[in-house]
Amino acid sequence: MGKIAIKEDIFWVGALDPERAVFDGLLPLSKGTTYNAYLVQGSEKTALMDTVEPEKLNELLLNLEGVETLDYVVSHHAEQDHSGSIPAILEKYPEATLLCLQKNKEMLMSLMQLPEDRIQVVEDGEEISLGNKTIRFMHFPWVHWPETAVTYIPEDKILFSCDFLGSHHSFDTIFAGENPEVYHGAKEYYVQIMMLYSRMTATYLDRLAELDIQFICPSHGSVYDKPQIILDLYEKWMRAEPENLALIAYVSTHGSTKVMAEHLQTELEKRGVSVVLKDLVGLPLDELAPLLTDAATIVLGSSVIMASLHPVAIGTAFLVDRLKPKAKFLAAIGSYGWSPGPLQKAADLFPTYKAEVVGAVAAKGFPKDEAFSDLADLAETIAGKHKDAGLLKA
Ligand code: FEO
Repeated sequence: MGKIAIKEDIFWVGALDPERAVFDGLLPLSKGTTYNAYLVQGSEKTALMDTVEPEKLNELLLNLEGVETLDYVVSHHAEQDHSGSIPAILEKYPEATLLCLQKNKEMLMSLMQLPEDRIQVVEDGEEISLGNKTIRFMHFPWVHWPETAVTYIPEDKILFSCDFLGSHHSFDTIFAGENPEVYHGAKEYYVQIMMLYSRMTATYLDRLAELDIQFICPSHGSVYDKPQIILDLYEKWMRAEPENLALIAYVSTHGSTKVMAEHLQTELEKRGVSVVLKDLVGLPLDELAPLLTDAATIVLGSSVIMASLHPVAIGTAFLVDRLKPKAKFLAAIGSYGWSPGPLQKAADLFPTYKAEVVGAVAAKGFPKDEAFSDLADLAETIAGKHKDAGLLKA
């Protein structure tokens, strides 16, 4: 794509990867991604902010054509999609010093071969002058690794936010503006990458609120030229109460569990609880993930198969347990042939997720009056919990 000016003497020099379909071998990418690196040319010194995935090194090098000298390479984060080309860049620019936090240095040294004498450790709050521009380092651990940092250039009111606030979205136009596709992608990304540690990391929004920010330059996806939009969204995703919403996510082998899920939806809606009903079979994670941020209740529906809950339901439960959305209440429903046991133990699928398990309804075969009555009771319980939590008006 070629380098792109963000502001005077500050350029995007990263790489697009529109064809990338999966991240971490797990996360589907419907719009590809980018590996953002930025060149900051001060009046006295020049810095490269991060590098790119090693297989995209040539694109970075093309974007650096004409840059004769690099004084600094800034590493915000040791994960290889940003750090993997550091060794090649240090080799090409033998005068360059790598700037990073101590924790990042330890991780980089464990992940790749780096000449230790080329690394200068900086502290949280430390400032490095480029002449007329100053790079201020801030340690923001757990967005999403323990060493992650962001940097701020006060003279230009630019925040380099690393993975924080990013999106997996390969762009045609670098600036996000108000493009809803960008913010939808940012929500998917938040759930998949940032939500797990959000109870620890939400206070970083307070640190950012103290800064005058004109542009946010993340490590993936578009540059935010209207930064308050993404900051407000993160405020909602990280700190707002969940909504009066139940997500019913089910897998049904012969339709009985589907009927139960639909009946529960009807009973919940009768009681004023909004419902999103999703068949998990074939549902990609990037479609499920955004639904997890908002719901106050998650109901897992599963047929019993192979003397167990369905593997698709188990996989979803694992992700909910690990991603830790804001839902306060959990429930399980489903149909069985001869043993309801797996459904009754559904709560065991959430060993680390601290939501309240409010009920389980198991139907032998096709649901009949007793199961429908139990589902109505479950709906009543969920609606009551939402009222008690102040999410649903009494
Ligand atoms: Fe984009 Fe955590 O690397």
